[in-house]
Formats: sequence, structure tokens, C-alpha cells
Amino acid sequence: MKLAILGGSFNPIHLGHLYLADTVLSALGIDRLILTPANISPFKLHTAGTVTEPAPGASGRDRLDMVLASVTADPRIGVDDLELRRGGVSYTADTLDEIIDRYRPGGKPVLVLGDDLAGNFSLWSRAGEIVRKADIVIARRVALPASGANVPAFPFPHTCLQNEIMDISSGMVRERISSGKAWRYLVPRGARLIIEDRGLYGAAPPAAAPGLPPAGILSLTARVEDAVRAVLSPGRFIHSRNTALLARDLARRYGLDGEAAYLAGIAHDMAKQLSLEEILALAERDGSVTEGERKNPGLLHGRAAAVLLRERLGIHNRDVLEAVSFHTTGKAGMGPLAQAVFIADKIEVSRQDIHPRFRDLAGNAGPADSLEGLFRAVLEDNVRWLKQQGLEPAEETLGLVFHGDPVERS
Ligand SMILES: [Fe+2]
Ligand SMILES: [Fe+2]
Repeated sequence: MKLAILGGSFNPIHLGHLYLADTVLSALGIDRLILTPANISPFKLHTAGTVTEPAPGASGRDRLDMVLASVTADPRIGVDDLELRRGGVSYTADTLDEIIDRYRPGGKPVLVLGDDLAGNFSLWSRAGEIVRKADIVIARRVALPASGANVPAFPFPHTCLQNEIMDISSGMVRERISSGKAWRYLVPRGARLIIEDRGLYGAAPPAAAPGLPPAGILSLTARVEDAVRAVLSPGRFIHSRNTALLARDLARRYGLDGEAAYLAGIAHDMAKQLSLEEILALAERDGSVTEGERKNPGLLHGRAAAVLLRERLGIHNRDVLEAVSFHTTGKAGMGPLAQAVFIADKIEVSRQDIHPRFRDLAGNAGPADSLEGLFRAVLEDNVRWLKQQGLEPAEETLGLVFHGDPVERS
């Protein structure tokens, strides 16, 4: 998989960022572009070296939420909160190392730099390492004066992206918001709603529109993704989105319906943060609940999510509902889409304890295995991991591991 990384403060994310992301994806044949919101950008430090927030008005959580809400249902774009989790100053060299370690891209990842920052690149922390480990692409961010002043020299191998500049900056958006000028359609819809909702940068809430339905004309997947994002913590939502992306990749690799896999991946944990009573009550609407499940209702969060999908979001695709229902424990006779979602849930890139073999696979080493072979390997690894953690795997799971081919059982 050809990977690109686009970092920034995203304070807030605006259409210029996404236009650049889209240009990188289409001009360079990138499979996935990862947005990495900075905790504290080294370029935004005060000159005296004092560590400050990148700019006033929005927390790291706000900035992350806006980025996540802006890439809804675009499977080409991933979001990684590694810099926010790491805390402190966000050095690109550290980010690059972790991305390479977790995503295992086929070749060197592309690192997109703005020409506004390229001039000082040799002063960056571990600049030499960065240019060895990544292919540098320099994108135009600042309009050159009519006199045609030179692009800053960049004394390392690189490619220049001939992108058009969209004349929007985060600073400009913040200034327009705080001074009451028009700003709403300079940012993606999801970011706009969060800015208004939270009153970021001094934004006034939108005029109330009583009686109007909240959702506009959105695709089904986007509607589900919005609903899931509203009920999960950012970390859990990032896991869900990574699961959706990998499930879609696997589905396409094995000739299954990629869009259905994405939908199941996005929704699979949507009941995860409900109380155990709520999970049990939802799962009971879906048929019988065994004694073992009643004792450990957390295992039913997949079935509870399937009920929410069907009853509240109008999803009736059987493969999607099956994949969501049985992603936790697996189930004898589960179909290929459910297997793909099960695999993706266990090995997506934000998971920490993953067997290196599966890391390579998620990063798109060629599929040596059949889908069933891979499913079995991940299942067995999952049982091993649960036991290591001192947890007892569910009966359903053990049944799959120790009793023959899951595909032949029904
Ligand atoms: Fe789950
Ligand atoms: Fe999950």
C-alpha cells in the first residue's frame, strides 16, 4: 500500500488541507493518506523556545474531532492521533518511525511538506533520518509574489507537487470567525458543525431552525458514520474507522463488497460504550441470550450494535448485520464479509499488541493466505492473546479454534 502523511495543526482543518490531500492522492497514486494532527507543532513554538499551545481557541481534542468529522466516508483518508497521544512537541521524525512501524507501508511513505516550511528543513530534528526514511514531496502552500521570487532551496532529494493553491489558511479562518465575517464554507461541513456547536474561535451558534430535520442529504454510510462518531470516544472512533478502512481493503482484495465492509467496520463497536444493562437489553431484542452471555454481557456489544443499526439507522443488509453481530467472538458458519471485519477489528493499525506477521499484512504485504486461512490465524492469535491477558475466550471462539473449518460448519 502506498502511504502518504500530511501533518499540521489543523486549527481548524479547512478546505485547503483537504484539497491538498485530494491532489496528493490523485497526482501521486497514493492508496491512503494519513492526517496527523500535531499536539504542539515545532513551528508554532514561540521564538524564545517556550512551549505553548499552537494557537488559542481549540483544544487538541477539538482539533482531532474536527479532522475526524471532515473525512466522513472517504476511505482514502486515515486519521491518526499518535502525536496528540504522545504529547509534548510533535517531531516529524518520531511520527514517521511510528507510522512505519505500525502501518508497514509497501515502500517508503510519502511525507508531504509545505514550501512554507521547507526552507528551514535542515534545522528539523533528525532531518537526515527523515529524508532517508520517507519520499519528500513539497507542496505549494504560499502564493509566490508576482515578481517570481524563488522557492526556498531544499538540499535533499524531493519531488515538487504542482498543486494549485487554495487561498485559505487556518489563521484566516480563525480571524474571520472572531471578527464576525463569513467563514462557514471555508471549512468542511463536519468541522463547521463542531465550531458552531462548541463556540470555537468565538463562533456564535447558528440561528435555530425549529422543525427542520437535523440531517441533510447524506449517503447512508455517512449518516451511520456521523451517528457512530457522536457516541464513541475519539480513540474508539479512530479504531472503528481503521477497522472500516482495513475491512474494505480486505474485502476488495478477496472480491467482496468493499462498501458493505466499510459500513460494518464503522458500526461494529457502536454499542461498546453503552452500559452493560443497555447492551443486554438491546441484544435480547435480537433473540436468545445464553447464560454465559448473561454473565458477561460485554460480549454482546456486537449484537447490540446490529440491533441499533437495524432499528435506528435502517440498515438491513444481512452480511453487514452478521459481521457486526459476531465481530467479538466469531461464530460457526460466519460468512466471508464477517470474517474480513473480524480480522480487521483485531489487527488494524491502532492496535498495540499485534503479531508482526499481521502488521505486515495490514500494511499490504501480498495475500499469501486465503481469507479463511487468515481468519483462522487471527482467531488463534486472538485466543492466545486473551489467555496471556488472563481472560477466558468465549465458548463460541474456542469452538471455532478447536473444531474444524469454521466455513464448513453452519
Ligand atoms: Fe468490539
Ligand atoms: Fe472493535
